[in-house]
Amino acid sequence: MADSSRRSLYSCRVSALEVTPESGIRVRGVPAARATRIYAVANQKGGVGKTTTAVNVSACLAEAGERVLLIDLDPQANATSGLGMRANGVSTHDLLDGAPLRTLAKPSTVENLDVVMAKSDLAAAAVELAQRAGGERYLADALDGAVDQYSYVLLDCPPSFGPLTVNALAAATRAIVPVQAEYYALEGLSQLLGTINLVKAQLNPELAVAGILLTMADGRTRLSAEVEAELRRHFGSLVFTTAIPRSVRLAEAPSHGVPAIAYDRRSAGAEAYWKVAMELVERS
Ligand SMILES: Nc1ncnc2c1ncn2[C@@H]1O[C@H](COP(=O)(O)OP(=O)(O)OP(=O)(O)O)[C@@H](O)[C@H]1O
Ligand SMILES: [Mg+2]
Repeated sequence: MADSSRRSLYSCRVSALEVTPESGIRVRGVPAARATRIYAVANQKGGVGKTTTAVNVSACLAEAGERVLLIDLDPQANATSGLGMRANGVSTHDLLDGAPLRTLAKPSTVENLDVVMAKSDLAAAAVELAQRAGGERYLADALDGAVDQYSYVLLDCPPSFGPLTVNALAAATRAIVPVQAEYYALEGLSQLLGTINLVKAQLNPELAVAGILLTMADGRTRLSAEVEAELRRHFGSLVFTTAIPRSVRLAEAPSHGVPAIAYDRRSAGAEAYWKVAMELVERS
Protein backbone atom coordinates (compact mmCIF):
# COMPACT_ATOMS: atom_id res chain seq x y z
CA MET A 1 0.00 0.00 0.00
CA ALA A 2 1.32 3.44 -0.90
CA ASP A 3 2.49 5.48 2.05
CA SER A 4 0.02 8.29 1.40
CA SER A 5 -3.02 5.98 1.25
CA ARG A 6 -1.85 4.23 4.40
CA ARG A 7 -1.79 7.60 6.10
CA SER A 8 -5.23 8.54 4.90
CA LEU A 9 -6.60 5.20 6.09
CA TYR A 10 -5.15 5.33 9.52
CA SER A 11 -4.15 8.89 10.26
CA CYS A 12 -5.99 10.40 13.16
CA ARG A 13 -6.36 13.53 15.19
CA VAL A 14 -4.44 12.30 18.20
CA SER A 15 -1.28 10.94 16.70
CA ALA A 16 -0.45 9.57 13.29
CA LEU A 17 0.01 5.82 13.48
CA GLU A 18 1.39 3.67 10.71
CA VAL A 19 0.87 -0.02 10.13
CA THR A 20 4.10 -1.85 9.50
CA PRO A 21 4.42 -5.56 8.74
CA GLU A 22 7.14 -6.09 11.31
CA SER A 23 5.75 -4.13 14.22
CA GLY A 24 2.07 -3.54 13.64
CA ILE A 25 1.84 0.14 14.52
CA ARG A 26 4.35 2.84 15.08
CA VAL A 27 4.03 6.49 15.77
CA ARG A 28 4.60 8.72 12.76
CA GLY A 29 4.34 12.06 14.47
CA VAL A 30 4.46 13.68 17.85
CA PRO A 31 1.13 13.30 19.66
CA ALA A 32 -0.80 16.55 19.90
CA ALA A 33 -1.50 17.87 23.39
CA ARG A 34 -4.99 16.86 24.52
CA ALA A 35 -7.06 15.75 27.45
CA THR A 36 -6.78 12.25 28.86
CA ARG A 37 -9.25 9.70 27.41
CA ILE A 38 -10.69 7.37 30.01
CA TYR A 39 -12.23 4.15 28.71
CA ALA A 40 -14.32 1.80 30.81
CA VAL A 41 -14.28 -1.71 29.32
CA ALA A 42 -17.65 -2.91 30.51
CA ASN A 43 -20.20 -5.65 30.10
CA GLN A 44 -22.10 -7.27 32.94
CA LYS A 45 -21.76 -10.63 31.18
CA GLY A 46 -18.85 -12.76 32.30
CA GLY A 47 -16.14 -14.05 30.01
CA VAL A 48 -16.90 -11.87 26.99
CA GLY A 49 -13.34 -10.54 26.56
CA LYS A 50 -13.32 -7.40 28.75
CA THR A 51 -9.93 -8.13 30.33
CA THR A 52 -8.40 -9.41 27.10
CA THR A 53 -9.52 -6.18 25.43
CA ALA A 54 -8.36 -3.91 28.26
CA VAL A 55 -4.90 -5.52 28.44
CA ASN A 56 -4.28 -5.74 24.70
CA VAL A 57 -5.64 -2.33 23.71
CA SER A 58 -3.59 -0.79 26.55
CA ALA A 59 -0.47 -2.57 25.35
CA CYS A 60 -1.00 -1.55 21.71
CA LEU A 61 -1.54 2.11 22.61
CA ALA A 62 1.52 2.01 24.87
CA GLU A 63 3.67 0.47 22.18
CA ALA A 64 2.46 3.15 19.79
CA GLY A 65 4.15 5.64 22.11
CA GLU A 66 1.16 6.78 24.13
CA ARG A 67 1.36 7.02 27.93
CA VAL A 68 -1.23 4.53 29.18
CA LEU A 69 -2.62 3.63 32.60
CA LEU A 70 -4.59 0.41 33.12
CA ILE A 71 -6.66 0.22 36.29
CA ASP A 72 -7.80 -3.25 37.32
CA LEU A 73 -11.27 -2.82 38.82
CA ASP A 74 -12.07 -6.52 39.11
CA PRO A 75 -11.47 -8.48 42.36
CA GLN A 76 -10.57 -11.45 40.12
CA ALA A 77 -7.44 -9.39 39.21
CA ASN A 78 -7.16 -11.00 35.76
CA ALA A 79 -5.70 -7.87 34.12
CA THR A 80 -3.07 -7.73 36.88
CA SER A 81 -2.03 -11.38 36.56
CA GLY A 82 -2.38 -11.27 32.76
CA LEU A 83 0.46 -8.74 32.74
CA GLY A 84 2.56 -10.95 35.00
CA MET A 85 1.98 -8.70 38.04
CA ARG A 86 0.74 -9.30 41.55
CA ALA A 87 -0.51 -6.79 44.11
CA ASN A 88 1.38 -7.57 47.31
CA GLY A 89 1.09 -4.07 48.66
CA VAL A 90 -1.07 -1.25 47.39
CA SER A 91 -3.94 -1.88 45.01
CA THR A 92 -7.10 -0.42 43.49
CA HIS A 93 -8.77 -0.66 46.91
CA ASP A 94 -6.34 2.03 48.15
CA LEU A 95 -7.24 4.24 45.19
CA LEU A 96 -10.91 4.08 46.18
CA ASP A 97 -9.84 4.80 49.77
CA GLY A 98 -8.23 8.07 48.70
CA ALA A 99 -4.55 7.14 48.34
CA PRO A 100 -2.83 9.29 45.67
CA LEU A 101 -2.67 7.65 42.25
CA ARG A 102 1.05 8.35 41.86
CA THR A 103 1.80 5.99 44.77
CA LEU A 104 -0.33 3.21 43.25
CA ALA A 105 0.45 3.20 39.51
CA LYS A 106 3.26 0.71 38.90
CA PRO A 107 5.22 0.25 35.68
CA SER A 108 4.52 -2.98 33.80
CA THR A 109 6.89 -4.89 31.54
CA VAL A 110 5.34 -2.99 28.62
CA GLU A 111 7.07 0.35 28.14
CA ASN A 112 4.72 3.32 28.65
CA LEU A 113 2.11 1.17 30.40
CA ASP A 114 1.47 1.65 34.13
CA VAL A 115 -0.96 -0.48 36.10
CA VAL A 116 -2.99 -0.03 39.28
CA MET A 117 -3.25 -3.64 40.37
CA ALA A 118 -6.24 -5.35 41.93
CA LYS A 119 -6.42 -8.04 44.56
CA SER A 120 -9.31 -9.94 46.07
CA ASP A 121 -9.97 -7.30 48.77
CA LEU A 122 -11.60 -5.23 46.04
CA ALA A 123 -14.75 -7.28 46.60
CA ALA A 124 -14.99 -5.78 50.09
CA ALA A 125 -14.36 -2.32 48.65
CA ALA A 126 -17.36 -2.80 46.42
CA VAL A 127 -19.55 -3.48 49.44
CA GLU A 128 -18.17 -0.38 51.21
CA LEU A 129 -18.81 1.77 48.14
CA ALA A 130 -22.41 0.65 48.00
CA GLN A 131 -22.88 1.76 51.62
CA ARG A 132 -21.31 5.21 51.32
CA ALA A 133 -23.23 8.28 50.23
CA GLY A 134 -21.90 9.36 46.84
CA GLY A 135 -20.04 6.05 46.63
CA GLU A 136 -20.45 5.90 42.86
CA ARG A 137 -18.07 8.84 42.34
CA TYR A 138 -15.04 7.71 44.35
CA LEU A 139 -13.05 6.63 41.32
CA ALA A 140 -13.95 9.77 39.35
CA ASP A 141 -12.75 11.90 42.27
CA ALA A 142 -9.56 9.83 42.62
CA LEU A 143 -8.71 10.32 38.93
CA ASP A 144 -9.73 13.96 38.73
CA GLY A 145 -6.58 15.98 38.10
CA ALA A 146 -4.38 12.91 38.72
CA VAL A 147 -4.14 11.37 35.25
CA ASP A 148 -2.87 14.31 33.19
CA GLN A 149 0.41 12.55 32.47
CA TYR A 150 -1.47 9.76 30.65
CA SER A 151 -3.03 9.98 27.19
CA TYR A 152 -5.23 6.97 27.83
CA VAL A 153 -6.63 5.33 30.95
CA LEU A 154 -8.36 1.95 30.61
CA LEU A 155 -10.62 0.58 33.34
CA ASP A 156 -11.13 -3.19 33.38
CA CYS A 157 -14.57 -3.76 34.92
CA PRO A 158 -15.90 -6.84 36.72
CA PRO A 159 -18.80 -8.84 35.25
CA SER A 160 -21.64 -7.09 37.07
CA PHE A 161 -23.57 -3.84 37.30
CA GLY A 162 -22.26 -3.39 40.84
CA PRO A 163 -20.61 -0.33 42.41
CA LEU A 164 -17.23 -0.94 40.75
CA THR A 165 -18.70 -0.84 37.24
CA VAL A 166 -20.82 2.20 38.13
CA ASN A 167 -17.68 3.90 39.47
CA ALA A 168 -15.88 3.10 36.21
CA LEU A 169 -18.72 4.52 34.10
CA ALA A 170 -18.92 7.61 36.31
CA ALA A 171 -15.17 8.21 35.82
CA ALA A 172 -14.93 7.38 32.11
CA THR A 173 -15.20 9.58 29.07
CA ARG A 174 -16.09 6.57 26.90
CA ALA A 175 -17.25 2.98 27.29
CA ILE A 176 -15.93 0.09 25.23
CA VAL A 177 -18.43 -2.77 25.17
CA PRO A 178 -17.02 -6.17 24.23
CA VAL A 179 -19.68 -8.59 23.01
CA GLN A 180 -18.98 -12.26 22.46
CA ALA A 181 -20.02 -13.74 19.13
CA GLU A 182 -22.54 -16.21 20.54
CA TYR A 183 -26.27 -16.83 20.56
CA TYR A 184 -27.01 -14.77 23.67
CA ALA A 185 -24.77 -11.87 22.62
CA LEU A 186 -27.50 -9.30 22.16
CA GLU A 187 -29.31 -10.33 25.30
CA GLY A 188 -28.32 -7.91 28.02
CA LEU A 189 -26.76 -5.46 25.58
CA SER A 190 -29.71 -3.09 25.55
CA GLN A 191 -29.78 -3.30 29.36
CA LEU A 192 -26.11 -2.33 29.42
CA LEU A 193 -26.63 0.57 27.01
CA GLY A 194 -29.56 1.66 29.19
CA THR A 195 -27.32 1.63 32.26
CA ILE A 196 -24.71 3.69 30.41
CA ASN A 197 -27.42 6.23 29.54
CA LEU A 198 -28.56 6.31 33.16
CA VAL A 199 -25.03 6.97 34.41
CA LYS A 200 -24.67 9.66 31.73
CA ALA A 201 -27.89 11.34 32.83
CA GLN A 202 -27.30 11.15 36.57
CA LEU A 203 -23.55 11.09 37.13
CA ASN A 204 -21.42 11.77 34.09
CA PRO A 205 -22.77 13.86 31.18
CA GLU A 206 -19.48 13.39 29.30
CA LEU A 207 -19.94 9.62 28.99
CA ALA A 208 -20.51 8.09 25.55
CA VAL A 209 -20.07 4.67 23.96
CA ALA A 210 -16.78 4.49 22.06
CA GLY A 211 -17.88 1.29 20.38
CA ILE A 212 -19.22 -2.23 20.63
CA LEU A 213 -16.48 -4.75 19.97
CA LEU A 214 -17.27 -8.22 18.67
CA THR A 215 -14.96 -10.74 20.35
CA MET A 216 -14.17 -14.41 19.84
CA ALA A 217 -15.60 -14.26 16.32
CA ASP A 218 -15.24 -17.52 14.44
CA GLY A 219 -15.42 -17.10 10.68
CA ARG A 220 -16.01 -20.82 10.22
CA THR A 221 -19.36 -20.87 11.97
CA ARG A 222 -22.61 -19.54 10.58
CA LEU A 223 -23.73 -18.55 14.09
CA SER A 224 -20.78 -16.17 14.52
CA ALA A 225 -21.48 -14.55 11.15
CA GLU A 226 -25.17 -14.19 12.02
CA VAL A 227 -24.42 -12.58 15.37
CA GLU A 228 -22.06 -10.14 13.68
CA ALA A 229 -24.62 -9.26 11.00
CA GLU A 230 -27.30 -8.77 13.63
CA LEU A 231 -25.04 -6.55 15.72
CA ARG A 232 -24.11 -4.37 12.74
CA ARG A 233 -27.73 -4.14 11.60
CA HIS A 234 -28.88 -2.95 15.04
CA PHE A 235 -25.97 -0.72 16.00
CA GLY A 236 -24.37 0.29 12.69
CA SER A 237 -21.21 2.37 13.01
CA LEU A 238 -21.27 2.01 16.79
CA VAL A 239 -19.75 -1.45 16.20
CA PHE A 240 -15.98 -1.45 15.68
CA THR A 241 -15.12 -2.29 12.07
CA THR A 242 -12.59 -4.78 13.39
CA ALA A 243 -13.86 -7.95 15.02
CA ILE A 244 -11.58 -9.91 17.33
CA PRO A 245 -11.23 -13.49 16.07
CA ARG A 246 -11.19 -16.49 18.37
CA SER A 247 -7.46 -16.96 18.82
CA VAL A 248 -5.58 -19.50 20.89
CA ARG A 249 -2.67 -17.03 21.16
CA LEU A 250 -4.93 -14.46 22.86
CA ALA A 251 -6.01 -17.09 25.38
CA GLU A 252 -2.44 -18.31 25.97
CA ALA A 253 -0.72 -14.93 26.41
CA PRO A 254 -2.01 -14.24 29.97
CA SER A 255 -0.51 -17.48 31.26
CA HIS A 256 2.85 -16.09 30.13
CA GLY A 257 2.10 -12.78 31.85
CA VAL A 258 2.31 -10.71 28.66
CA PRO A 259 -0.06 -9.08 26.17
CA ALA A 260 -0.58 -10.81 22.83
CA ILE A 261 1.68 -8.36 20.97
CA ALA A 262 4.56 -9.46 23.18
CA TYR A 263 3.63 -13.15 23.01
CA ASP A 264 3.03 -13.47 19.27
CA ARG A 265 2.64 -10.15 17.48
CA ARG A 266 1.89 -11.80 14.15
CA SER A 267 -1.02 -13.79 15.50
CA ALA A 268 -4.47 -12.92 14.17
CA GLY A 269 -5.58 -11.87 17.66
CA ALA A 270 -2.67 -9.47 18.20
CA GLU A 271 -3.16 -7.92 14.76
CA ALA A 272 -6.88 -7.46 15.39
CA TYR A 273 -6.18 -5.63 18.66
CA TRP A 274 -3.73 -3.34 16.82
CA LYS A 275 -6.53 -2.40 14.46
CA VAL A 276 -8.96 -1.84 17.33
CA ALA A 277 -6.43 0.45 19.02
CA MET A 278 -6.20 2.44 15.79
CA GLU A 279 -9.97 2.66 15.46
CA LEU A 280 -10.15 3.82 19.04
CA VAL A 281 -7.67 6.60 18.40
CA GLU A 282 -9.63 7.63 15.32
CA ARG A 283 -12.88 7.62 17.28
CA SER A 284 -11.55 9.53 20.28
N1 LIG B 1 -10.51 -13.64 21.08
C1 LIG B 1 -10.33 -14.65 21.94
N2 LIG B 1 -10.00 -15.88 21.48
C2 LIG B 1 -9.84 -16.91 22.34
N3 LIG B 1 -9.96 -16.82 23.66
C3 LIG B 1 -10.28 -15.61 24.17
C4 LIG B 1 -10.48 -14.47 23.35
N4 LIG B 1 -10.78 -13.42 24.13
C5 LIG B 1 -10.78 -13.88 25.41
N5 LIG B 1 -10.48 -15.20 25.43
C6 LIG B 1 -10.41 -16.06 26.60
O1 LIG B 1 -11.73 -16.16 27.10
C7 LIG B 1 -11.72 -16.10 28.52
C8 LIG B 1 -12.53 -14.89 28.97
O2 LIG B 1 -11.88 -13.71 28.49
P1 LIG B 1 -11.71 -12.45 29.44
O3 LIG B 1 -11.12 -12.84 30.75
O4 LIG B 1 -11.01 -11.42 28.66
O5 LIG B 1 -13.22 -12.06 29.62
P2 LIG B 1 -13.85 -11.09 30.73
O6 LIG B 1 -15.07 -10.50 30.12
O7 LIG B 1 -12.83 -10.17 31.25
O8 LIG B 1 -14.23 -12.13 31.87
P3 LIG B 1 -14.81 -11.73 33.32
O9 LIG B 1 -16.22 -11.33 33.09
O10 LIG B 1 -14.67 -12.99 34.13
O11 LIG B 1 -13.96 -10.62 33.85
C9 LIG B 1 -10.27 -16.05 28.95
O12 LIG B 1 -9.82 -17.33 29.20
C10 LIG B 1 -9.57 -15.47 27.71
O13 LIG B 1 -8.24 -15.87 27.60
MG1 LIG C 1 -12.26 -9.77 33.23
